[in-house]
Amino acid sequence: MKEPIERMKARLPEWLEASRMRAAEGQVAAYIPELAKASRDALGITVMGRGGESASAGDTEMLFTMQSISKVFTLLLAFIDNGEDAVFAKVGMEPTGDDFNSMLKLELVEPGKPFNPLINAGAIAISSLIHGATPAEKTERILRFFRTAAADSSLTFSEKVYRSESATAHRNRSLAYFLKDNEVLGEEIEVEDVLDVYFKHCAVEVNVGHLARMALILAFNGTDPLTGEELVPRRYVQIAKTFMFSCGMYNASGEFAIRAGIPAKSGVSGGILALVPGQYGIGVIGPALGRKGNSVAGVHLLETMSEAFDWSLF
Ligand code: DON
Repeated sequence: MKEPIERMKARLPEWLEASRMRAAEGQVAAYIPELAKASRDALGITVMGRGGESASAGDTEMLFTMQSISKVFTLLLAFIDNGEDAVFAKVGMEPTGDDFNSMLKLELVEPGKPFNPLINAGAIAISSLIHGATPAEKTERILRFFRTAAADSSLTFSEKVYRSESATAHRNRSLAYFLKDNEVLGEEIEVEDVLDVYFKHCAVEVNVGHLARMALILAFNGTDPLTGEELVPRRYVQIAKTFMFSCGMYNASGEFAIRAGIPAKSGVSGGILALVPGQYGIGVIGPALGRKGNSVAGVHLLETMSEAFDWSLF
């Protein structure tokens, strides 16, 4: 029998076109004006194996911003910078069941403490933990970390998308001020400075190959299987993957866990970073989103592949 990656190469074009049809059920995100320009029917995927071998199909060269996918990697950097206890002093470990930008639960249980680091409030709190004397220095450290993980030293953020989000981010501003009021951000931290770091890491531009490469490092517990270099301690990757499984697809995480059964993180640009532990890193782009903010065609494609290759962890 052929290697799975060879079988993927053979089947992917057909699966991709079947999933692409689903894009008609979704809408491109418009609350960040610059994102509304993306093509609704675009769909691309790269699956990368431990030796760097890959299967790709569709719009693999398309550039898009990481948006919430970046939150997995800022979380890892926050762990590296501060350790586990300091991070969990700021954010909880539980899914919310609410929309990613919801304010609802911020006042419940422990006022001001976001339920987890992948919702917007939690990720803003995490941005405040990144080491660096200035917002520019924090952003530079984040970029350096992302570049190493993606094995591309040219990775940077889209100035246009960053500005577009910053100019319209009324809800994120209110979340951040609420965090500040509840002393989650720390006295010395200015709200606008944290938001600047947050908007910029959300605006880092990638293609599906970058996401697959970044995911591969998570699939191999923080050690790059291509170089043997440990980029992140295993424990931190273990926590990040657990969050991806329980909260990575927001309030559709339960459904995705049942249907696909693998850790994944979505972004409102339509990107999804997913992985099969010990096997593959996966990057997907499909800008049309469902009601809960996940790529409709991208989710369909991952579910199709998971079923075909029996990827579910359980
Ligand atoms: O803060 C925001 O709203 C965006 N920069 C990121 C949100 C996001 O990607 C949620 N994803 N599904």
